[in-house]
Amino acid sequence: MKRITIAIDGFSSTGKSTLAKQLAKKLGYVYVDTGAMYRAVTYFAMQNNWVTENTLDKNSLINHLDEVHLKFHFNEALGFAEMFLNGVNVEQEIRTLEVSQNVSRVAEISEVRAKLVQQQQEMGRNKGVVMDGRDIGTVVFPNAELKIFMTASAETRAERRFNELIEKGQHVTFEDVLENVQQRDYIDTHRDDSPLVQAADAVVVDNSTLSKEEQFDVVLNLVNQYL
Ligand code: DC
Repeated sequence: MKRITIAIDGFSSTGKSTLAKQLAKKLGYVYVDTGAMYRAVTYFAMQNNWVTENTLDKNSLINHLDEVHLKFHFNEALGFAEMFLNGVNVEQEIRTLEVSQNVSRVAEISEVRAKLVQQQQEMGRNKGVVMDGRDIGTVVFPNAELKIFMTASAETRAERRFNELIEKGQHVTFEDVLENVQQRDYIDTHRDDSPLVQAADAVVVDNSTLSKEEQFDVVLNLVNQYL
């Protein structure tokens, strides 16, 4: 069967990764969560105190980018690939609200983007890949056969994210999560390098009102048109 590239872009917490994982499993494709890569670089910068809530030492991070080695390792039990930073599993650490608060500012740095985009293009070289992020259909794979742009209201997304964080035992308020979602939307759509924009040929999926199953059916129908 023909193997294609599926690019899924959209705002944070729109359920991109849930959809991407479902699709990859169904099609036997590789799933790449590019947000995890930006999160891991951010965590690396936080470990070195180059990024805090109010500060960002861009030059130090850029000068040490060669020391950042990222790898995804598929975890059979979990059914998805976990992120390893310099040989250490950081899957839990990169999902905290602190990392979420810093990641958009790190993702604005062109040198960081260039490094990660190159790795992403390499991972998708043989097609048969579902990749989610902000610039997949516009920058990483502008020739992807299928591009999905996911959206949902900020409140819906904050509610989902809040519930996820509470389930993981993190102490957060809904207001903080909503503020973080809105701030990230702003930075992601206004940065100079590869801002989040809908590719002209992307199909928009607004999942404010769609269940996971309905959304999966909609997208699977689209995929089948290409296979
Ligand atoms: O998908 P996510 O919320 O885990 O992404 C974390 C951050 O990384 C998000 O605020 C923007 C950035 N990002 C990006 O700039 N480009 C990508 N391809 C993926 C994520």
